[in-house]
Order: sequence, then structure tokens, then C-alpha cells
Amino acid sequence: MIAIACDHGGLDIKNAIIEDLKKKGVEYIDLGTNTADSVDYPVYAKKVCTEITEGRCEKGILCCGTGIGMSIAANKVRGIRAAVLSDEFSAEMTRRHNNSNVLCLGGRVINEEKAVKLADIFLNTPFEGGRHEKRVSMLED
Ligand code: RB5
Repeated sequence: MIAIACDHGGLDIKNAIIEDLKKKGVEYIDLGTNTADSVDYPVYAKKVCTEITEGRCEKGILCCGTGIGMSIAANKVRGIRAAVLSDEFSAEMTRRHNNSNVLCLGGRVINEEKAVKLADIFLNTPFEGGRHEKRVSMLED
């Protein structure tokens, strides 16, 4: 199960990602926002992170204007490893090496097509483990 949310700056790319998840039959929970009205991104970051830390979702996707606010908020939550990125290589490597569990994207940085592509890579790339296991566990200490 994937948790997904956005603020007003990330609404269009969130909707594009959701359309793609539906097409692929990926289970998700949409935690808002669902209008263009201005809202506060930390509220939505917390909703997604809680789904993960309480074990209901395995990964999350957060969209705001830049992805930065969402990533700052998400990384304050113990157990969350959030990556803000805008290229395919980083989307792959943050899964392989960081075992990131939250993807943060910026609706004013990337277009809908790129957002869908990055979410797909993020959701389908496994963690490599091995030497990265120790480094990732150091993040929790
Ligand atoms: C909202 O205007 C904007 O600040 C927000 O979407 C995000 O980019 C913050 O990092």
C-alpha cells in the first residue's frame, strides 16, 4: 500500500501519479489535498509518514511546489527516509542505496510525465542491502 499526498503546489503531479497507479493496479491511499486552495505542507507530510511508521503503508509519495518542504518535514519523523529529487538516476539510487521510503517531488520543478516516471522507478527499485544496510541503520541511531 502506498500513501500519497500533496499541497496545492503538488496537486497536478499527484493526480498524474494517482492516474498511473490506478492504471497499474497499485493500491494507494490518497491523503489529500484535493483542491487548489492553499494548505500547509507539513500537515500532509505528517499524514503520509504516520501511515508508514504505523505500518499501514510501505512507502509514501509527497508532492509540493519544490518537494523540499515536504522532504524537510518528512525527514523529521523517526523511521522516515525521504528523498527529494528530479532525475531518474537519483530515483533509482535512493532506493538501491538509501532504502528511501518516501519520495518527494516538486510540481513547479518537474512536469507530470516526469513525475509519473520517477514514481514508477521509486516504487519498483529494490534496496540493495549489503554494505548499505549498516549505513541505513546508522541513520536511526
Ligand atoms: C507553497 O507555495 C510552497 O511553498 C510549497 O508547495 C513547497 O514548495 C514548499 O517547499
